[in-house]
Amino acid sequence: MTSLADYARGLPKAELHLHIEGTLEPELMFALARRNGVTLPYADVEAVRAAYRFEDLQSFLDLYYAGASVLRTAADFHDLTWAYLERAHADRVLHTEIFFDPQTHTDRGIPFATVLDGIHGALERGRRELGIGYRLILCFLRHLPEAAAEATLDAALPHLDRIDGFGLDSSERGHPPSKFARVFARARTLGRPVVAHAGEEGPPAYITEALDLLKVVRIDHGVRCVEDPALVARLARERMPLTVCPLSNVKLRVFPDLAAHNLLTLLRDGLCVTINSDDPAYFGGYVGDNFAAVAEALAPSRAELRQLADNSFEAAWLTAEERARCRQALADYDAAAT
Ligand code: ADE
Ligand code: ZN
Repeated sequence: MTSLADYARGLPKAELHLHIEGTLEPELMFALARRNGVTLPYADVEAVRAAYRFEDLQSFLDLYYAGASVLRTAADFHDLTWAYLERAHADRVLHTEIFFDPQTHTDRGIPFATVLDGIHGALERGRRELGIGYRLILCFLRHLPEAAAEATLDAALPHLDRIDGFGLDSSERGHPPSKFARVFARARTLGRPVVAHAGEEGPPAYITEALDLLKVVRIDHGVRCVEDPALVARLARERMPLTVCPLSNVKLRVFPDLAAHNLLTLLRDGLCVTINSDDPAYFGGYVGDNFAAVAEALAPSRAELRQLADNSFEAAWLTAEERARCRQALADYDAAAT
């Protein structure tokens, strides 16, 4: 009899909330630092891991942006993305929709095209060699001015054939979605869906702003919606997907531990909850680890775990044919599970 955690880990799934810069494992960080002659403020891999004790989102972001300094060439971005795809494949990820933060790199003098060529080349290789479908989402950094996001959108225009959507990430508190209403309006005119981080550390009002002002098709995190019952009812009524990241929420102290996480409550309220890994190299687990940890801490039924995987296919930007294929893989897996 398969354990609940193994059943959860092995479910065919889509990952919808993954920052590619957040998949930089300390080993690769050191390898790239050596390759590029970058000096890191850590003696070794263990010292890096020891530094991963976070108080909140900002204390994590400070290390995350510092770590990204080793990424310089298209080969670096390729190797980073490829390492993630191999892990995702082992976790039965059939389709992944990943974020990248161009401003983290262009502000250091790395050309936009270098970043995109490396990431996109690896995603194409993953599609061919591993059968993993993908979408690529450009995120604007919300701690920077809206004018900087506008300049980033300008830089993206020649590459729109490789950009499938736009998002909003980085420091949430004090940077409401309304700050980016104009650039998101322009992004939407390009015919791409938009998403935003909201309600991770920020209040439920930020979720409402993301829905009404940015017109997002998914909310990234969104767990603080529970503080506004009318908002919870709306999210359920609209089947608005939440890309929830359980291990991230514990590491960044949104919840004291996994047993206190509200994702199962939200699922039972009828919300389209999905499970994702966010920044797995920093938070101690890839998407399979997140599924397994939820199974162990919250004791969902198998049907609920299957629903969480099915929600990931419902919320993904798939064609009807791709979605049907993913759902068939899920049905086959469930039928074969003992
Ligand atoms: N960038 C990378 N991970 C993030 C998170 N969890 N919240 C906001 N911005 C991020
Ligand atoms: Zn995130």
